[in-house]
Amino acid sequence: MKIMHVDASAKRERSNSRALSRYFLERLCEERVDLEVDYLDVTVDTPPHVTEAFAIATYTPTGERTAAMNATLAASDALCKRLLAADALVFAMPMYNWSMPSAFKAYIDSVTRTGLTYVNSEDGHTVGQLVRQKVLFITSRGADLRAGSPYESMDALTPALKAAFGFLGVAEPTFVDAQPLQFANPEARAEALERARTELVEVAANWAKQVHATADALTADTNNEVMTLCQE
Ligand SMILES: Cc1cc2nc3c(=O)[nH]c(=O)nc-3n(C[C@H](O)[C@H](O)[C@H](O)COP(=O)(O)O)c2cc1C
Repeated sequence: MKIMHVDASAKRERSNSRALSRYFLERLCEERVDLEVDYLDVTVDTPPHVTEAFAIATYTPTGERTAAMNATLAASDALCKRLLAADALVFAMPMYNWSMPSAFKAYIDSVTRTGLTYVNSEDGHTVGQLVRQKVLFITSRGADLRAGSPYESMDALTPALKAAFGFLGVAEPTFVDAQPLQFANPEARAEALERARTELVEVAANWAKQVHATADALTADTNNEVMTLCQE
């Protein structure tokens, strides 16, 4: 399985979201999923902010773009290609000021591309192209924003991610939100991390089950073909 793994925390060794995304990939390996990982750290390779040149080039039909426009879009084209090539997407990030880190927003601005990650249908609708990918968002939050908490209504991260990737065709993303990790006592933080790890074990088992079932079905198909050939 080809996984696009994206980290977005400004922290490195101390980062909880980075640790949790690594933990998830380790669980997939334990589940004997054959992984090919395409890794992107958007705090190191940060996609550029939208510029005027980008805004014009991206909405110019492919055949009408100048060489300069193509050059402006080249890095974004490459990011879209990587996204579309993946079978599964793992995005890990902290909550910053109730939403996503700006480096991850820059990534979304780079991969939301007409004609690539979504297309315009003849009846005037847009059709997202990320329909076959499994998608997991791992988020880390300092406060507890779960239902019933006084911060519940402040969660602008979950709806923003759902909207951006829903537009690209991701219908049912999985969320594992570790919270509270900062504005709480040590016991509550430890519990939050343990809860997140337990959820990640479940998601890994679920993904592995699907991957192995698909592999079994392919093997059965191939065996059937071989048997048919032998009978002919
Ligand atoms: C600049 C900044 C802004 C933050 N804003 C919020 C916030 O709005 N809500 C919240 O719950 N936590 C907030 N936090 C706390 C982080 O989300 C929390 O510490 C998280 O665990 C960090 O993840 P990381 O360890 O992967 O970097 C903020 C932290 C930083 C550094």
